[in-house]
Amino acid sequence: MIQFYTSDELQSHLTLLIKQGKALGFVPTMGALHEGHLSLIRRARLENDVVVCSIFVNPIQFNNASDLEKYPRTLEADLALLEPAGCDVVFIPSVEDMYPEPVKESFNFGYLDKIMEGKFRPGHFEGVAVVVRRLFEKVQPTRAYFGLKDYQQIAVVKSMMNQINSPVNLVPCEIVREPDGLAMSSRNVRLSAEARDRAPVIFQLLKSGRTMVANHSPAQIVEYVVSQFQLHPDFELEYFEIVDSETLLPLEAFSPDRSAIACVAVWLNKVRLIDNMLYSD
Ligand code: PAJ
Repeated sequence: MIQFYTSDELQSHLTLLIKQGKALGFVPTMGALHEGHLSLIRRARLENDVVVCSIFVNPIQFNNASDLEKYPRTLEADLALLEPAGCDVVFIPSVEDMYPEPVKESFNFGYLDKIMEGKFRPGHFEGVAVVVRRLFEKVQPTRAYFGLKDYQQIAVVKSMMNQINSPVNLVPCEIVREPDGLAMSSRNVRLSAEARDRAPVIFQLLKSGRTMVANHSPAQIVEYVVSQFQLHPDFELEYFEIVDSETLLPLEAFSPDRSAIACVAVWLNKVRLIDNMLYSD
């Protein structure tokens, strides 16, 4: 596995491979890697000639300074995990390399970055879109792999790609969970042992809501799940919403021709956790 710390070195290496017609699979990450990230690397390995991963804690997507400061950084351990998972090239740029000048570009996501995550993390998706665009320009991947754990992120990245006519194929990948159901996340290591034991409540309540789909409206399920979270005072719910999985707009009623997804964000032990679950096919 080759490590590159600057865009110039990365690009001179990749340009040769692209000229040779190699298919490049790309997995952008912020490091503190876990099985969720590695599942993307393994999938990219199966579907491409060359696998590129980036590790960059992108400052402009953090709307909260303390979250950025506390974001786990575990580069040595990350590098040790990447090679056995099938990564060929890892790109670890500096902030100066990614942002040599103040960021000027912006996108128009309409309502997409004003709901759910966008509502509670203003500016977050703009920062994600800017960095993913720049990474795509540097790597020029054939395919890019994103986890469905960040469901709204995928919708925003697709919108950004439409706005710039990106030729990249975006490949959404299933959520990887701990055996007790907690969605894997780099932030999970910040949970106290006690909070970590309590965290599977999120997955359990997502599942409880799903069992109600046949006999209840989305609003009734939302009311039930919200009331259940209120029974757990250690959880501070930001939102629990059932939305159309295509448009991400709130769903009034379940119907066979529309697919529903439940999305949740919750604070536990000063750590913000998100998760989601399809409520229909
Ligand atoms: P990060 O949180 O490091 O996640 C990198 C990729 O791993 C994302 O596509 C995310 O959805 C995926 N991922 C994380 N946990 C997962 C899980 N439990 N199962 C499956 N996939 C999972 O998302 C980002 O970084 C950044 O916003 C980034 C796209 C790199 C831009 O800075």
